[in-house]
Amino acid sequence: MVVSTIGVLGAGAMGGGIAQAAALNGFNVILCDVEKRFVDDAIKKFEAHLDKCIKNEKMTIAEKAVVIGRVTATIQVADFSAADFVIESVVEDITIKKNVFAALDKACRPDVILATNTSSMSITDIASATTRPEMVAGLHFFIPPTIMDVVEVTRGYYTSDSTVQQVKNVAEQMGKKCVEVKKDTPGFIANRIYTPLLLEAFKVYEEGIASKEDIDAAMKLAYKLPIGPFELADYIGLDTLNNGLKYFQSELGPQWSPPQTLKRLVKAGRLGRKVGKGWYDY
Ligand SMILES: NC(=O)c1ccc[n+]([C@@H]2O[C@H](COP(=O)([O-])OP(=O)(O)OC[C@H]3O[C@@H](n4cnc5c(N)ncnc54)[C@H](O)[C@@H]3O)[C@@H](O)[C@H]2O)c1
Repeated sequence: MVVSTIGVLGAGAMGGGIAQAAALNGFNVILCDVEKRFVDDAIKKFEAHLDKCIKNEKMTIAEKAVVIGRVTATIQVADFSAADFVIESVVEDITIKKNVFAALDKACRPDVILATNTSSMSITDIASATTRPEMVAGLHFFIPPTIMDVVEVTRGYYTSDSTVQQVKNVAEQMGKKCVEVKKDTPGFIANRIYTPLLLEAFKVYEEGIASKEDIDAAMKLAYKLPIGPFELADYIGLDTLNNGLKYFQSELGPQWSPPQTLKRLVKAGRLGRKVGKGWYDY
């Protein structure tokens, strides 16, 4: 099937960025969230990004109008009846994910693939809420989705080869390099490998071994990382990270449980860059 319109469900840090990446690469986008103000905010951020492109002479005013004109805002999942492909990017909560997949299954044409941007959760479990598990796959972007070049494409137990191929085609048209995750396991590849590093960084801080500033500096300068673990956590969103760790803990064991310092920040509403405060102030 030719995909020209992508439905993006969830207009937060990731969904908003995925909508940008899709529209910038020629797709029409239907962007949906629970409240209009969330979608409006995502579109405002997109306009600001395009204005910067105009200022840097990378885009004309006319081109901006074309790109932004590709995005339609809605708060009705039923509007995804016009979508050829869906990327779900709502909060990292398995109950909410399964509820939205049941709603997407009803709203979307039967030939439409439903992809999830979950960072950690089981594709098979999410797909079980639909009548088309063979057409559900993981399509995991990295933050920020307009800049990070790789996506993880994950098979659920029932995902068909043709679904995997079509998901890769769409991601490649969005300018992404696809890596395939052959088994549906928590955290897939990158988060499975990187999360223990984050947890160890939090532990080194909690044990009073070093300040978060020095831990970030050590990791950036010693290993040429573009960003330190505390800075990255603030980018990810501390609520999203906390939810992911709780899921890892339930699936992989207690060594993955969220540290007290992280839980305290989440309770205090310090959710990271998206609210202007997390491990650091912005
Ligand atoms: N933040 C990251 O670095 C990152 C990276 C890759 C993947 N992810 C994954 O992307 C997903 C979204 O994360 P985020 O960082 O954008 O979170 P976020 O909190 O910034 O955004 C989540 C959005 O989902 C919306 N939402 C909640 N319930 C909804 C529903 N029923 N219908 C429609 N919208 C709903 C919220 O209103 C919010 O706007 C999660 O699964 C997360 O694990 C996050």
